Amino acid sequence: MRTFPEHFKWGAASSSYQIEGAAQADGKGMSVWDMMCQWPGKIYGGETGDDACEHYYRYREDVAEMKTIGLETYRFSVSWPRVLPDGIGKVNAKGLEFYDRLVDCLLEADIEPWVTLFHWDYPLALYQKGGWLNRDSVDWFGEYASVIGEALGDRVSHWMTLNEPQCFMGNGHLWGSHAPGDKLPMPLALKAMHHALMAHGNGVLALRKHCELKPKIGWAPNCSAAIPVSESAEDVETARKDFFKVSSGTFFNNSLWSDPVYLGRYPEEAAEVFGADWPDFDDGDMTLIAQPLDFIGYNCYSGYLIKASPNGGSESIAAVPGEPVGTLDWLKVMPDSLYWASRMFAERYGPKPIYITENGLCNTDWVSSDGAVHDPQRIDYISSYLQGVKRAVSEGIDVSGYFYWSIFDNFEWAEGYRSRFGLVHVDFGTQKRTLKDSAWWYRNLIQTNGESLDVKEYDVNLLVADPVR
Ligand code: FCB
Repeated sequence: MRTFPEHFKWGAASSSYQIEGAAQADGKGMSVWDMMCQWPGKIYGGETGDDACEHYYRYREDVAEMKTIGLETYRFSVSWPRVLPDGIGKVNAKGLEFYDRLVDCLLEADIEPWVTLFHWDYPLALYQKGGWLNRDSVDWFGEYASVIGEALGDRVSHWMTLNEPQCFMGNGHLWGSHAPGDKLPMPLALKAMHHALMAHGNGVLALRKHCELKPKIGWAPNCSAAIPVSESAEDVETARKDFFKVSSGTFFNNSLWSDPVYLGRYPEEAAEVFGADWPDFDDGDMTLIAQPLDFIGYNCYSGYLIKASPNGGSESIAAVPGEPVGTLDWLKVMPDSLYWASRMFAERYGPKPIYITENGLCNTDWVSSDGAVHDPQRIDYISSYLQGVKRAVSEGIDVSGYFYWSIFDNFEWAEGYRSRFGLVHVDFGTQKRTLKDSAWWYRNLIQTNGESLDVKEYDVNLLVADPVR
């Protein structure tokens, strides 16, 4: 099987609210997540991102850990209200300086910074002006993107506009489980979706205008892979149809978001599926939404099995009790996910390089009595998922990079801190960082450009004997 291409990028990801802490420091404005965390009963254990990993203060130490792991790329997001406390208007110099220093520090460590403009911490001040429901939100995002492009675009060349719009719209504006906690009626939620898509397009335009280095721009929607039970033409076609079908009552749709961005139109079935709820969108908006992108980014943790039924429809496969799952029950361990998702995105929206902008496993890792953090399940998860990437590459699909989620254990939104995704363990009492076994394993994988994936038995003793450790 063809191995990973020479230019393949090995990285890890994070987001501002989940790691930075310093929620009120140096003139930062409030975000909708700062608001939500004060809302009794919304977050597990009443936890907040007020301190998180204190990355705002500890970023040098954190970049040093990344360097030890050998990351080639690091995907992080900028906190919009840290830089623009009111969302627009006056720039908070101290907030911007933080990202300036972080980018320099990464470059000194020879780690390529990949910047996400928006990973959910929306400025509260703009939410109070109507947020995504207000069509001006398109311009607000453009202004924000200009400020960041101007400030960092001389050193940053890879950008993502929005992270998982399905989640911040679905969980945040339709179901109320994430910030800002809204339960909008569908016609309004669809309007907000449309504005977010337009904002994405406007963000791309702003980056192209303001970045000094020629920017490479994508975005990071999420998906759950449709995995055919067999590779018969019927099962594969059924999976493909299901992956791109439009479902009503939810934003967890792929084509609803990605067709406008890559193809310049909403999927035809959307108007039918959403019926009277479907707004009459202005055709002119689609040109803004469909700005040419340089790569296909996607986040994927899981998938589901599906097969063709004899009547020409589809059948999903019932869950087996006790099947492998992370500590968050949506995270079913389905190793073929990255193969099928890459293949399906490439077929519909390619040819373009694909970057897996998030993939990872949550567990209850702790520091063992020997001082190490043993997380064999995470190693198995990453290695089995990456076999799917390797297969995709061997079939000529241009997967050019992988970002493990996450570099650190962190604040997992409404789930608080109990589910740990990190390569680096964080003790949230002392802020002590400990590289998990998976971090050492990943280091080896990066050093061999993925060749060590085929070493079946990873030997923890070998890891312990590692000279760096
Ligand atoms: C994704 C989010 C990320 C993190 C992971 C576990 O949905 O983009 O912030 O919460 O899931």
